[in-house]
Amino acid sequence: MSAVQATLSRPAPKVDEKVTIDLANRAETVLPKPNERNILITSALPYVNNVPHLGNIIGCVLSADVYARFCRARGYNTIYICGTDEYGTATETKALTDGVTCQELCDKYHAIHKQTYEWFSCDFDKFGRTPTPWHTKITQAIYKEIEKELTVERTLTQLYCEHHKSFLADRFVEGTCPKCSYPDARGDQCDNCGTLLEPTELINPKCKVDGTTPVLKETKHIFLDLGKEQSKLEAWVDKSSVEGKWSANTINITKSWLKEGLKERCITRDLKWGVPVPKDGFREKVFYVWFEACIGYPSITASYTEQWEKWWKNPDEVELYQFMGKDNVPFHTVVFPSTLLGQTEKWTLLKHVSTTEYLQYESGKFSKSRGVGVFGNHVQEIGVPVAVWRYYLLSNRPETSDSQFTWANFVACNNNELLANLGNFVNRIVKFINANYGGVIPEYEVDGAPEAALVKDVNALLGQYVEALEGVKLRQGLKLAMDISARGNLYMQDNRIDNKLFANERKRCDAVVAAAANLVYLLGSLIYPYMPTTAEAIFRQLNLPQRRITDTWTASDIRPGHVIGKAEYLFTIIKPEKADEWRAKYGGKQDGTAEPEQSKTSKRKAAKAKAAAQGLSEAPEGCERTPAIVELERQIKEAGEAVRNLKAEKAAAELVKEAVETLTKYKMELQTQVDLVLHK
Ligand code: 2FM
Ligand code: ZN
Repeated sequence: MSAVQATLSRPAPKVDEKVTIDLANRAETVLPKPNERNILITSALPYVNNVPHLGNIIGCVLSADVYARFCRARGYNTIYICGTDEYGTATETKALTDGVTCQELCDKYHAIHKQTYEWFSCDFDKFGRTPTPWHTKITQAIYKEIEKELTVERTLTQLYCEHHKSFLADRFVEGTCPKCSYPDARGDQCDNCGTLLEPTELINPKCKVDGTTPVLKETKHIFLDLGKEQSKLEAWVDKSSVEGKWSANTINITKSWLKEGLKERCITRDLKWGVPVPKDGFREKVFYVWFEACIGYPSITASYTEQWEKWWKNPDEVELYQFMGKDNVPFHTVVFPSTLLGQTEKWTLLKHVSTTEYLQYESGKFSKSRGVGVFGNHVQEIGVPVAVWRYYLLSNRPETSDSQFTWANFVACNNNELLANLGNFVNRIVKFINANYGGVIPEYEVDGAPEAALVKDVNALLGQYVEALEGVKLRQGLKLAMDISARGNLYMQDNRIDNKLFANERKRCDAVVAAAANLVYLLGSLIYPYMPTTAEAIFRQLNLPQRRITDTWTASDIRPGHVIGKAEYLFTIIKPEKADEWRAKYGGKQDGTAEPEQSKTSKRKAAKAKAAAQGLSEAPEGCERTPAIVELERQIKEAGEAVRNLKAEKAAAELVKEAVETLTKYKMELQTQVDLVLHK
């Protein structure tokens, strides 16, 4: 049957239409609307010249996607803008060493970024690029407005490579450290003694591109005199940081810049690959990326709609939410707003800034240059569905401190959280309704005491979920959604939903089935921002349209007589030994050779996570031993003995493997039961 036929033959959903929302057919161009919440979301524009790794992905692009999806599912008028940051020294130099033009280099990597984020289900309204006529036009116009009041000219002496006819950015010069004589010190810092350097201080400097000795040459540059904006900016920071509930970290970073006093910053570079400076005497130069990159947000919006000013010059009607790694904060809270505050027109300035710390890889660092860690291309070849990656990254989002990616935790997340909690709940109820009710939701009343308790608990958690997400606390929101799923499992368990209940207490069974199905529907909406493909699978199994994220839940959205769809598995088990296999394959290098060194603590952590991935042998001390737990402990003992006996008998590997799998399954079930009891 074709997909169209399948849709046609499916009975129409019977559902309270107030809770549904059509997100699949959103307008081609979304513009701000009067008297609505108009939300403009941006993710820091990733540098174009490399393949993004997991840290880059969770750092901004994926986080902003969750927030955008949340806003759309709340019914807010939302756009999400991102794109590649393409200009600058790094691109020019890489193109030179790779023997391609800047344009060719950017085309290649822009496509890689775009494809990677599409794989991660990032639903941008526009994923653009900085080199566009719009970008040049808007950047030059912004500059022209502040040229007179806020800029000054200065003459600098810089290292110049006569061989490749270029001034050398700090990191493209190497030489001997003047402090410790280390021969490979970089232009900005000596890696041996840590001294911060000016490239002109290096002894025997060499151009990193071609190894020749650069000469000193004078060059004129334009500086942004931020000091003139200090008081205006301070007033804006004081107001916005409170209204937009900036995190303590963001406030600290911003205030430390303000406290030190804003200084002149050079905003031009002697490069070709960039936005030309529209001023006589400077026409051979371009704007420094940190002056021009943030202008990528409005210019990419302009590539999306010619009416971009309705978003960007509309501070009274638009709320701007920006996502970034913490190293980008000063450019978004100090440099960019100062530039915009210097304009005659009123621009939309950021309301909330959501920052992340760093994601580490198996206790080491992701490193673009050394190629350590999991990169976008690896993720796609591993064969684990995108929902699991999104869940893992978002539940470990480095929100307040650095967090770690470990393969053992990754497997544990899939097996012990997604499969055992969410997958189990959804699958159990969908299967039960199909097996016992022919897929039809019965007439029901949710007025029993267990249902009242369920509705009360779920609403308490739902209120916290909405509050967390409104405050951009993404990690907390995900945990609360999973808590609601756990509450659903507990409800099913307490009400002993089984064939006996169906046969002997039909009215009770009808109520339990209906309440649980309604909870599955709610859960679909709550996990949608985090795992959109899983949410789609839930809505498909329920044969219901997308549900909006509501403030409250009544357990009565689905009408009696509604016919649900077929059961599908949301998640499948990942064998714990896969963690070792993947670590060996992707552990050290991007090409998958060596494993990075692990500290003792991180080895202990990894061992703990590995044990968690394999489940529990018995309930921990202090955990109430429910009948289900007692039974599972018995099964684990029995299955454990079976494994030992088979091994002692030197039985066929297949048989041993099968017995181990049974044992692992019981152990994981026990882990879930224990989590449920402890959660209660
Ligand atoms: O840190 C980065 O990856 C920069 N390319 C971010 C730029 S954000 C903004 F300015 F566009
Ligand atoms: Zn040194």
